[in-house]
Amino acid sequence: MLLWLFIVLALLFGVAVLRGAPYLPTMRRDVEVALDLLDLKPGQTMLELGSGDGVVAKAAAKRGLKVIGYELNPLLVLASRFRCRKYPGVQIIWGDYWSKTWPQSDGMYVFLLDNYMSKLHAQIEGYREGKSYRLVSHSFRIKEKKHAKSQRNFYLYLYK
Ligand SMILES: C[S@@+](CC[C@H](N)C(=O)[O-])C[C@H]1O[C@@H](n2cnc3c(N)ncnc32)[C@H](O)[C@@H]1O
Repeated sequence: MLLWLFIVLALLFGVAVLRGAPYLPTMRRDVEVALDLLDLKPGQTMLELGSGDGVVAKAAAKRGLKVIGYELNPLLVLASRFRCRKYPGVQIIWGDYWSKTWPQSDGMYVFLLDNYMSKLHAQIEGYREGKSYRLVSHSFRIKEKKHAKSQRNFYLYLYK
């Protein structure tokens, strides 16, 4: 029984490594730094690819942002929906963000892995349809694009 539980949990958490990044939440003390850098205004929408346990989504909602998060791991979807239950502007969608059509948003927060950053950059170029767009990435840089600003280990990219 315990072995089965272990196998199920390993699969739920392990599959994320193949499609994006493993579960590693942004540290609480860093969340505000990331959101300050993203600098979206109340009423604007933040997209979060791989929203984990919802720690960033909740902090963004407290700032008056609308949040759309995609999360592959159903346990984390439930946990983040529970965490953000008092914020109707937060929507956590269960699924693979690479296979979804992203809804309109004003900026994005990601904590991916190095080898997905070029793919992300290409997707954003198509997605934004010429509109200006802000991206904050935790830890990993886009090698095809110069970041506009950085703070601690967060990088801001401005698409114009
Ligand atoms: C490094 S964690 C970051 C979590 C959260 N963004 C934060 O900063 O606290 C990456 C998250 O992305 C999720 N993930 C990885 N690949 C994904 C994919 N293709 N679609 C949706 N979620 C994915 C993982 O399950 C994990 O929760």
